[in-house]
Amino acid sequence: MGTVWDERFAGEEYYYGTEPNEFVRKQSADLPKGKALCLGEGEGRNAAWLASHGFEVVAVDLSTVGLRKAQALANRFNASISTVVADLEEYVPAKGGYDLVVITFVHLPPEVRTKVHRRALAALKPEGYLILQCFSKDQLQFQSGGPKDSALLVTTDDIRFDFLDGHILLLEQSEEDISEGAHHIGHCSVVSCLVQAGGDS
Ligand SMILES: C[S@@+](CC[C@H](N)C(=O)[O-])C[C@H]1O[C@@H](n2cnc3c(N)ncnc32)[C@H](O)[C@@H]1O
Repeated sequence: MGTVWDERFAGEEYYYGTEPNEFVRKQSADLPKGKALCLGEGEGRNAAWLASHGFEVVAVDLSTVGLRKAQALANRFNASISTVVADLEEYVPAKGGYDLVVITFVHLPPEVRTKVHRRALAALKPEGYLILQCFSKDQLQFQSGGPKDSALLVTTDDIRFDFLDGHILLLEQSEEDISEGAHHIGHCSVVSCLVQAGGDS
C-alpha cells in the first residue's frame, strides 16, 4: 500500500536526516538499555541510533519505503532493527513488552492520537520510559515543518490527558531552532514529554 509518506521518503536523502532527534538523544542517553519500540518511526533516525547504542529496537510505520531506509540506516551503524509495517490506528503493541517507547513528530487526529498514546504507555514494562516530541499548536505561525492543520498539533494539556495513567517526569512546550534534514529546519514550537510507567503497569 503506497502512502503519501512513501512518496516523501522515495528519494535517496533522509527526509529528516540521519541523526536522532535531539530530545530523544538527550533523554535516552542514560536510560538502562533494553527493548525499545519506535512508533511512526519513518526512515529510522531514532531507531538506528538506539540500536547502535545497545537497544533492541522494533520500528513501526505505515511506510514500507521509510522502514526499508530505516533498516539500511541501522546497517550503516553496524546495527540491526526489526520493522513492522502497520497503521498505528490498528496496531496494538505487546502490553508490558518494552523498556522504552519513542514517538517523534507523529501527528494524528485527536481521537486516534489519544488511543495510540495510551497503547504506547501500556506497552511499557513497569518503570519503563516513553519519550515524545511533536509540534505544538503554536507551530502554525512557523514555516519550519509539520502539518498546517491545528487539529493535528498538540498542547501540553493534550499530552497530559493522553498519559494520565503514567508519571509525567517532564512536559513542556518550548521554542527551539531545529535542523533535522531538509524538512524540519528553523525556528519551531514543540511539546516534549518524558513519562514513566508505574511500578505495577
Ligand atoms: C513527520 S514523520 C516522523 C518520522 C519519524 N518519527 C521522525 O521523527 O523522523 C511522521 C511519520 O509517521 C508515520 N505515520 C503517520 N500516520 C501513521 C499511522 N496512522 N500509522 C503508522 N505510521 C504513521 C508516517 O509514515 C511518517 O513516517
